[in-house]
Amino acid sequence: MADLLLGQTLAFAGDPFQVGPEAARHEPQGAVLVRDGQIAAVGQADSLRKAHPAAQIHDYGRALISAGFVDAHIHFPQTAIIASWGKRLIDWLNTYTFPEEMRFADPAYARAIAERTFDLTLANGTTTLCSYATIHPGSVDAFFAAAEARGLRALAGKTCMDRNAPEGLRDTAQSAHDDSRTLLERWHGRGRLSYVITPRFSPTSSPEQLEALGALWARYPDCLMQTHLSEQLDEIAWVRSLFPEARDYLDTYERFGLLGPNALYGHAIHLEPREKARLSEVGAAVVHCPTSNSFIGSGLFDMAGLASGGLRVGLATDTGGGSSFSMLRTMAAAYEIAQLRGQALHPAALWWLATCGSARALRLADRIGNLAPGMEADIAVIDLASTPAIAQRADRAESFWEALFPTIMMGDDRAIRAVWAGGRRVNLRATE
Ligand code: GUN
Ligand code: ZN
Repeated sequence: MADLLLGQTLAFAGDPFQVGPEAARHEPQGAVLVRDGQIAAVGQADSLRKAHPAAQIHDYGRALISAGFVDAHIHFPQTAIIASWGKRLIDWLNTYTFPEEMRFADPAYARAIAERTFDLTLANGTTTLCSYATIHPGSVDAFFAAAEARGLRALAGKTCMDRNAPEGLRDTAQSAHDDSRTLLERWHGRGRLSYVITPRFSPTSSPEQLEALGALWARYPDCLMQTHLSEQLDEIAWVRSLFPEARDYLDTYERFGLLGPNALYGHAIHLEPREKARLSEVGAAVVHCPTSNSFIGSGLFDMAGLASGGLRVGLATDTGGGSSFSMLRTMAAAYEIAQLRGQALHPAALWWLATCGSARALRLADRIGNLAPGMEADIAVIDLASTPAIAQRADRAESFWEALFPTIMMGDDRAIRAVWAGGRRVNLRATE
């Protein structure tokens, strides 16, 4: 039994940062055929209807059918402390984040927050999360079990910290290595799930722990490795004092084997020329977290410079440092931050970042993040007139991009009309 989704469709044949908005494929009367969890065809509504008369029709009218959003950096354990007032990075971690993450010693709490996070992110059209857990192995189990129950593609790892964190929220070099390996063997490649080796950032890992995780990654090189890099100036000064022999922040990872083509570095705002050159040379990815960067006061990411230079760049909420679960709101913040650097990001580039770009950063561009035959059927259906303010502006539009941009800038979960994950329709009101 196949499903045929009708509406406007948006897909990408290339990277807008390299080839411009022409990389996008917009079909005003489009259709997506879904069969056995995958996208079987993308084309014009009339011809796909004729070719597949037995398919069940889901007519979304003028709504936009897109790949589901891919959030390439989130902290699911921080869901309940989103929008905590008045601190910058290090104080914010000590005041709000670490006390909350301590609560994940309780597996029941970890399960409840994992469920809540997926309910909130699915309601925002996000079908894949790449998350940090806490130091507790049970938090990783909770996250993956919740993802598996919903049939989602998801990635996560145990956050490793053995210093500069409170008692009760520290592991050791050995236990971080051993627990990560046990979890990796339990979850990596099970269904749609992937394990990510996750040292939080170099201030909270001793050289011994970074070395142990570098050794683990060398044994499992097809895993991703995620961490934070050059987010705030105070943090960078702290890293310099903790690792006086390192050439720069990136070198605190590189010297311990934590730099490679499957590495993902969150933030990467204040990069030195050597760091940029080295990230490009090895083919690592960086993840832009714009609502977090303005909320915590971190700085202005150089999107045009890095993405046009060929670096793989993903887009993410970084919730709870980020102030929203919505990738629409995240695109808007990316646009605003780029404007402050004198860069105008085209709507095609913003949408690409939230779908294909993030999937490519996660090395999953052959499976998720786009509408194309053979891709997994993770789909978001977006209402382009979801509020009166958006509708009246879209009504004036003389092009598709002009009609889409008000939803990028002003849209939220009210714009998410339907979500499909692994070829199945998600019940967005599951918790009500
Ligand atoms: N750097 C280290 N840990 C974190 C975190 O939890 N959030 C953010 N935004 N930055 C970090
Ligand atoms: Zn983060």
